[in-house]
Amino acid sequence: MEPQLELLPPEILEAQSAFAERLSACADLDALLRMKGAYVGREGSHAARLMELLKTAPKEQKRDLGAAINALKNAWEEALKTRQAELEATKKAIPAEDATLPPPRPPEGALHPLQRLMDRLVEAFRPLGYHVEEGPEVETEEHNFDGLNIPADHPARGSSDTFYFSARPDLLLRTHTSPVQVRVLKRYGTKNAAGVSLLEEKGGLRFLAPGRVYRKDEIDPTHSPMFHQVEGMLVAKGIGMQHLKGTLAYAMKALFGPGADVRFRPSYFPFVEPGCEMDVRCPLCGGSGCRVCKGSGWVEILGAGLIHPKVLEHAGIDPTVWSGFAFGMGVERTAMMVSQSPDLRLFFENDQRFLAQMGGLD
Ligand code: PHE
Repeated sequence: MEPQLELLPPEILEAQSAFAERLSACADLDALLRMKGAYVGREGSHAARLMELLKTAPKEQKRDLGAAINALKNAWEEALKTRQAELEATKKAIPAEDATLPPPRPPEGALHPLQRLMDRLVEAFRPLGYHVEEGPEVETEEHNFDGLNIPADHPARGSSDTFYFSARPDLLLRTHTSPVQVRVLKRYGTKNAAGVSLLEEKGGLRFLAPGRVYRKDEIDPTHSPMFHQVEGMLVAKGIGMQHLKGTLAYAMKALFGPGADVRFRPSYFPFVEPGCEMDVRCPLCGGSGCRVCKGSGWVEILGAGLIHPKVLEHAGIDPTVWSGFAFGMGVERTAMMVSQSPDLRLFFENDQRFLAQMGGLD
């Protein structure tokens, strides 16, 4: 039956005449659902208004009006359904991925920035003939202290500074990488069956020892109970401070670039004599003074000195024949400087966003 449109109010007729055009203008499902609500929704829609109209219509009109309303509502619902199906089909037809985009890359693993810095240091010393030595993180007092001429009453040996094992009081977590000096010196100082030591056989030794060390420090932006050092040592004949200074100045240029500048200040460590600390010119401000160098223009990164005769003697090496130098560099401090990181805890939290930014250590 043809809907008897003349029975309908003018705003409905207008809605009907605009229906087809509006329907084809619905470009997506959202627009279509909005239109559906406006035409056939339960409340406030054109169809709902028509049902109200029907209730109040005079009795004799009810039949024809009801038929007209039903016809119109059915026609709208039918057309809306068809358009909805069309839109759903095109939505499904659009591929979820753009084939012209490069394929997604799975997250790639990478070496930790502290590891990369230690690797770089090792590489800087390789042309100078240094190889890598390792020592255990659980050490004896002999290697960590006695063999390094650290007296029994030295404060660093106290249980407030050093982690000891309650079940094995003779063992501790090494507080620096210097015990590797003692281990390597003992190995090189030991004479073979022919009475010749490795040191004599090779005419000297030079090595780097990167690794973890432990101290009872509270965690704060510049302290952690676990951190890293790189130990370096050279033994030969006739070694003096000039060799130490020349070697470190060379290595710092390899590490920080040709403009790297270093300075040495006298300092004290029981296992070297004379002892010193080395600063590099602050790579952040270039020496003019900033927060990182606390206004001084320089940042301390290592302790060093000429090997104390007692250290050589402890390892069975004659200090009247052999001499050498040693140094111990703080890795976190250097990494913070190179990468301009304000807090060393960032290096241990392994937040992927921080690690991904550590290009400065490449
Ligand atoms: N072991 C010292 C420290 O932990 C550093 C050092 C190493 C000093 C070698 C002199 C020679 O601070």
